[in-house]
Amino acid sequence: MPVTILVGAQWGDEGKGRVVDDYAARADIVARYNGGDNAGHTIVAEGHTLALHLVPSGILYPHVVNLIGGGTVVNPLRLLEEIAMLEAAGIPAGPERIKLAAGAHLILPTHRALDGAHEKRLAGRAIGTTQRGIGPAYADKAARINLRAGQMRDADAFAEAAEGLLTTHNAHLEKLYGLPTADVPQAVAALREAAQRLAPYLVDGAAFVAEALAQGKHILCEGAQGTLLDLDHGTYPFVTSSATIAGGALTGLGFGPSAVREVIGVAKAYTTRVGAGPFPTELLDETGEQLRRVGHEYGTTTGRPRRCGWLDAVILRYAAHVNGLTGLALTKLDVLSGLPELKIAVAYEYRGTQVEHFPAEWGSEMLAEMQPIYETLPGWEEDLGAVRRREDLPAAARAYVARIEELTGVPVIFIGVGPAREAFIR
Ligand code: IMP
Repeated sequence: MPVTILVGAQWGDEGKGRVVDDYAARADIVARYNGGDNAGHTIVAEGHTLALHLVPSGILYPHVVNLIGGGTVVNPLRLLEEIAMLEAAGIPAGPERIKLAAGAHLILPTHRALDGAHEKRLAGRAIGTTQRGIGPAYADKAARINLRAGQMRDADAFAEAAEGLLTTHNAHLEKLYGLPTADVPQAVAALREAAQRLAPYLVDGAAFVAEALAQGKHILCEGAQGTLLDLDHGTYPFVTSSATIAGGALTGLGFGPSAVREVIGVAKAYTTRVGAGPFPTELLDETGEQLRRVGHEYGTTTGRPRRCGWLDAVILRYAAHVNGLTGLALTKLDVLSGLPELKIAVAYEYRGTQVEHFPAEWGSEMLAEMQPIYETLPGWEEDLGAVRRREDLPAAARAYVARIEELTGVPVIFIGVGPAREAFIR
């Protein structure tokens, strides 16, 4: 069973890049299965600080092949920019290192314009998207009118198809939203050139995975965003438009559940969220400000300040359930150092009744009414950056981690204790 799936257990930004980085060292293939350049994490390599949005995190390991799977949505122009950025930093990023599944859907410049237009129309009810065109591209996928990466094999036919979709989008921008339209000939020319440059990267994604599994290769599936941003199981409508949970790896890459060995959920030692939507344990006080400051809680993709709050075990139990988690990777435990006491939400109260199960399916209005029921644990003062064994953590930090295991029923198998690449306990 050679597949490991790594997912975000909260609202994204859990620090998955660090954990993927550790797992990728022992993988043959790292595969992205959902989302697009709405994701983002910063890596430090060869003295450069690089922000990756589309290319899987295995790119830093020369032995790893990186697959952008069929469940993703890819902006070809942004992918080329990212490839150029990697190569400028001395990291080989050619077709032998990066494979693009022919079944991946494409994001056109007009998808981005439509993303902005939808958000503007929603006004006070806006989702707070990353404005990367994710929702409109997945909407066109579901409507069966979108372009797929495989079409880039034939630049002429691709240019013609792109022209058709850009023209349709322009009609929407102009007639529905009264907005300026895209310059179609210019966009087609850029897309045609991108197609020629990306064609060598194309593979049949499911066939590539099947062959790798037959050869006993270890595939690490790298989830983007987090469980509560899942289109079906997240806090709809304040979600992204893809399957972020572990099941998304199966549909997004094209293999069956029997190949899966482990499912790792990555969770911050507290909770953050970017964009709009309910957040039961949000802290709008000085403690929330401290978490944001100490944890550098600003988005990699948009730079927006993240909303911060206490750890929510209701969310983590839910993540354990919908993903089938076999282990939890707890990141940024060091950020909690210095807080006199820590709270963990263990259940919610809703109109006088106690709720144990995260009420995702009942919708955001009901969730907005949920009041967290907290348990309070002692904090610790010590800096954790140099700790490399769990038994060397301060007693209060050990107790905090142990309580998370009890509340979720999932063992904590990785603990992040500082920003340095090697600052973790495994
Ligand atoms: P979209 O994915 O750009 O459509 O945005 C939908 C929601 O998902 C918004 O609340 C975004 O802030 C959130 N989101 C999308 N990608 C990420 C991510 O990588 N980390 C955290 N939140 C994200």
